[in-house]
Amino acid sequence: MTTFKQTLRCMAIVLPLIAVAVMIQYSATATEPAPEDPKPEAVADSMHHLMEYYFEPQFHKLKEAMAKEPADGAGWKPIKSATLILGEGGNLLIHRAPEEGKADWLHEGEEIRKHGKMAYDAARKKDFATARKQYESMVRHCNSCHRKFADGKYQLTP
Ligand code: HEC
Repeated sequence: MTTFKQTLRCMAIVLPLIAVAVMIQYSATATEPAPEDPKPEAVADSMHHLMEYYFEPQFHKLKEAMAKEPADGAGWKPIKSATLILGEGGNLLIHRAPEEGKADWLHEGEEIRKHGKMAYDAARKKDFATARKQYESMVRHCNSCHRKFADGKYQLTP
């Protein structure tokens, strides 16, 4: 026969266990992973297409606009546009680094972003000498990446 004392002892063990179980259950639901945030994802997998349709048209636009110092605000606009797009393009390259030669690739992508940004910042201040210098540095890195990863083809003249 169960005595009153035995019942109390039994409850002293069982009740805390129930409390712990409830807490574990609660914390499990509270830390349920949130739905994942979207991550950068390639629109076109082919590096050739990224270069041909994203980088190349901006390069031609920039080369033409940079041929001489713009006379007015309208002349600066394509320079600001192309340096911003190409600078951001450095991020797209970083995002697509291949396993083989990864460190070199990341370095070139970072240089495109860096010189693109400095050219863009200079263009916003209508500082042609600095914009031109940074644009030329950026194109040097287009070329050095092509030497490393595209058999030395596509050597561009700023
Ligand atoms: C991180 C490396 C890298 C950088 C930096 C880079 N490219 Fe390229 N580029 C490539 C590779 C790789 C190819 C060859 C793609 C293929 O054909 O598979 C290429 C090819 C090209 C082509 C030839 C595409 C065609 O239609 O034949 C052009 C034009 C080009 N790049 C422009 C640029 C310009 C302009 C820049 C700088 C603003 C630049 N690239 C920077 C890696 C790079």
